[in-house]
Amino acid sequence: MTALVAQSTDALRDRARTLSARLDQLRAQGLKLDLTRGKPATDQLELSNGLETALHGDFRARDGTDVRNYGGLRGIPEARALGAALLGVDPATVMAAGNSSLTLMYQTIDAALHFGLWGDDCRWRATNAPVKFLCPTPGYDRHFTICQSFGIEMINVPMTDAGPDMNAAEALVAADANIKGMWCVPKYSNPTGCIYSPEVVRRIAALPRVAGPNFLICWDNAYAVHDLEFPPPMLASISDAAEEAGTSLQIVQFCSTSKITYAGAGVGFVAAAPDVLDRLERFLSVQEIGPDKVNQLRHARFLEGRIELHMRAHAALIRPKFDAVLERLETGLAGLDIATWTRPQGGYFISFDTLPGLARRVVALAKSAGVTMTAAGATFPYGKDPLDRNIRIAPTFPSLRDVEAAAEVFTLCVELASIDHFLERRGAA
Ligand SMILES: Cc1ncc(COP(=O)(O)O)c(C=O)c1O
Repeated sequence: MTALVAQSTDALRDRARTLSARLDQLRAQGLKLDLTRGKPATDQLELSNGLETALHGDFRARDGTDVRNYGGLRGIPEARALGAALLGVDPATVMAAGNSSLTLMYQTIDAALHFGLWGDDCRWRATNAPVKFLCPTPGYDRHFTICQSFGIEMINVPMTDAGPDMNAAEALVAADANIKGMWCVPKYSNPTGCIYSPEVVRRIAALPRVAGPNFLICWDNAYAVHDLEFPPPMLASISDAAEEAGTSLQIVQFCSTSKITYAGAGVGFVAAAPDVLDRLERFLSVQEIGPDKVNQLRHARFLEGRIELHMRAHAALIRPKFDAVLERLETGLAGLDIATWTRPQGGYFISFDTLPGLARRVVALAKSAGVTMTAAGATFPYGKDPLDRNIRIAPTFPSLRDVEAAAEVFTLCVELASIDHFLERRGAA
């Protein structure tokens, strides 16, 4: 296909008429499709129904704990071992908690601000100085919401195919001592799907050496085992890199089984150096007596020795949905020079960039045809994409047929909005 910009005004007008007619046809079908939700589909949830019978009436953890009773804030040993297997860390560094890693992230930031993760003197809010965070963008909107809820100022760091732009991150922390932390989704990043390279992992682990002793890397490894291809690509160990850099106290890792078993009814994990975990436990002990250990035990028994097998079953269900989107994007847009998109090897998202200034327009156009996309801007702090071009596509939840239909509408809207843009620029709209 010829790049749109190189096509004649008449050719663009013709093409716009064809696309508009097709869009009207689709509108007439009254579509109600939704590509916003990074949720497992029902058939994925079915894969974990064995959870219901995993306990067979045996409520004793292997250390003798009766999981039906209060207590055990750090989690039962077999659940801590499960979290350790997911994160690739020592079980002694893991706390198995409640149903959400996002809650743990919120609590960790709260603790760092008001309680001190490294001692009372290290509270970020010990003075009135502003607290700032590096936010690789595009990124996960709920990280940004946590920061915003605490009044933490967010600073964008561009993402590359190998992870955050570390030259930018290093320069920023060197210049501003009020930057106290950084969000990272290191494997199948939300939404770009990239895997941080070993070099980036090494430089992130070294960042606290530049930034200072109370700088925190929030390593949200939400998609640690959510591979679409096997054998899966490997993520370099942040724990090993931190040990080498002497920054182990400043890395906190998170993950959960939300998209392994039941979203919202899984187990969340946090991993940190023993002293930091002790502080976090003290902070949390004011809020709770202990997590849901019954859920922890059934998860440990259900997943023991079969995580990869289970994730292969997920991949078999969702890979066709990713392929369907990618195929339509390729067929409809390749060569037009109006968009770029990622081809992830795992995770839950495809990240799509329109021409600058068109993301909102494309999302609105798709909505008018019955296809809801994640709001443009959502992948940036404060909901502000400076170039208004990023759109997150979440293909897992709808049926394959709906994904195919939605991808067709979306592709068409991207081309139509781009043609309108070129025609406007030529004063020919
Ligand atoms: C990067 C990332 N972290 C965390 C979460 C939420 O995790 P949880 O369900 O464990 O709270 C999500 C969910 O979409 C996510 O994409």
